[in-house]
Amino acid sequence: FGNKLCFCLNGTSVEIDNPDLDITLLNYVRSIGLTGTKLGCGEGGCGACTIMISSYDKTLDKISHISANACLIPLCSVDGKHIITIEGIGNVKNPHPIQERLTLLHGSQCRFCTPGVVMSLYSLLCNNPNPSEKEAEKCFMAIFADVLVIALYWTLQKREIT
Ligand code: FES
Repeated sequence: FGNKLCFCLNGTSVEIDNPDLDITLLNYVRSIGLTGTKLGCGEGGCGACTIMISSYDKTLDKISHISANACLIPLCSVDGKHIITIEGIGNVKNPHPIQERLTLLHGSQCRFCTPGVVMSLYSLLCNNPNPSEKEAEKCFMAIFADVLVIALYWTLQKREIT
């Protein structure tokens, strides 16, 4: 009703009256302390700001998940959706298996964009729990895809890494 924005953020319901029409999703999540989502290029090129947006797809009659560059998404466009940021899937004390495997396999470099990489992987697995190697590579489109694909398969197979 009126100028109320309603969505879910990491499992918590959020309602904002008269939301700022100009603020991006990235600036919003960072402004409330969710600073794991990073500002890199600010123009959709680097993926450091990747988050996952889930919504009900009436056509397919199922929940669909997309990874998205939060620096390009107006906050007001997420009405009725569920937003997952890196804080929503794991942390240093209780990492998600993707984070754990990336760490163990040295799958991050300076680590600035690692949250975005993790969220891309997480979105892939939410839509497709058993992606092929090609599907995983397509998901990354990054030069260090090999390391990430290995991390993904270790994640899926839940092997011990020494
Ligand atoms: Fe680079 Fe959003 S900050 S894609």
